[in-house]
Amino acid sequence: MKGLILAGGKGTRLRPITFSMAKQLVPVANKPVLFYGLEALAEAGIREVGIIVGDTAKEIEQAVGDGARWGLEVTYIPQPEPLGLAHAVLTAEPYLGTTPFLMYLGDNLLTGGVKSLVEAFEARRPNALILLAEVPNPQEFGVAQLEGERVVRLIEKPKEPPSNLALVGVYLFDSHIFEAARAIKPSWRGELEITDAIQYLIDQGYTVEWQKITGWWKDTGNLESLLEANRLVLEELPPRLQGTLEETEAFGRVSVGEGSVLRRCVVRGPAIIGANCLLEECYIGPFTAIGDGVRMRACEIEFSIVLEGSQIDSVEPRIEASLLGKNTLVRGGMRRPRTLRLMLGDSSSVEMP
Ligand code: G1P
Repeated sequence: MKGLILAGGKGTRLRPITFSMAKQLVPVANKPVLFYGLEALAEAGIREVGIIVGDTAKEIEQAVGDGARWGLEVTYIPQPEPLGLAHAVLTAEPYLGTTPFLMYLGDNLLTGGVKSLVEAFEARRPNALILLAEVPNPQEFGVAQLEGERVVRLIEKPKEPPSNLALVGVYLFDSHIFEAARAIKPSWRGELEITDAIQYLIDQGYTVEWQKITGWWKDTGNLESLLEANRLVLEELPPRLQGTLEETEAFGRVSVGEGSVLRRCVVRGPAIIGANCLLEECYIGPFTAIGDGVRMRACEIEFSIVLEGSQIDSVEPRIEASLLGKNTLVRGGMRRPRTLRLMLGDSSSVEMP
């Protein structure tokens, strides 16, 4: 079995962060989302992995390299235009050949890995095996309609969802999926949808099996779900104190990287602070991930992600549910008049108390 990871796409729902970085490389608990997928594939015993790349190819290649770090052999497959998931499958056809494969959407994150899924596929050899999860907002996903134990219909982002069962971004296919991807037409959003290709398999009488997810699953394509994924990963964070804590209280599971100094701070875990940070007189609340080389002084933050090299200084209200890109600066002060000075990139958003 081969792996196929999709790491193209524009990440429009995570702008402005994705103007300068691939959405699959945005860190969750200080590790790029994509790395969780690579780990899951390696753990399931998959060795050969093709990664579909688009505009952000260079950045993805730089971060992942040849895959040896995970014991994988990675091949990069450029998709000239993001024309849909089924189009990506067709682009990878020369690489995949007739080998069955596991397709993993690079911005998806799930607990429990994919090993049991691979085992179920190899034991029964259906033409496709899909993974479903109950969600409160099915209209934002591909949705499955079941009849008894059989999946009879799959609809991409339906206005009136027939169920609350969303298609998770992990799929197993044999080579019939190429026939399906060639047979379908682009959807209203101009993409060849994998959902429609699987519907073709159902309509042609191929076997499409499904499994329900046991743990949690997040598609990290927007801020809300990214913060949720960060929270869920931090819930399982092993505490590890490598930096220096001076007059600092750390409660719960807290991880501090090498070379970091926390002075007169209060940290309530679960929280992760990267390497070479300097934090003074700060409150770091639960579900916060601070990247490497961040400097913070006289501020409070919780349930947030701060990327490497950023600075937060003398900010009075607590920062929460926020995502700060690399090398950003947020600075407050007691000067009068109390004005706001902003230099925000395109698609930035700021909310005031
Ligand atoms: C894609 C699929 C959708 C699936 C989702 C999972 O949506 O088209 O069926 O439920 O991934 O993350 P997209 O992220 O392209 O909107």
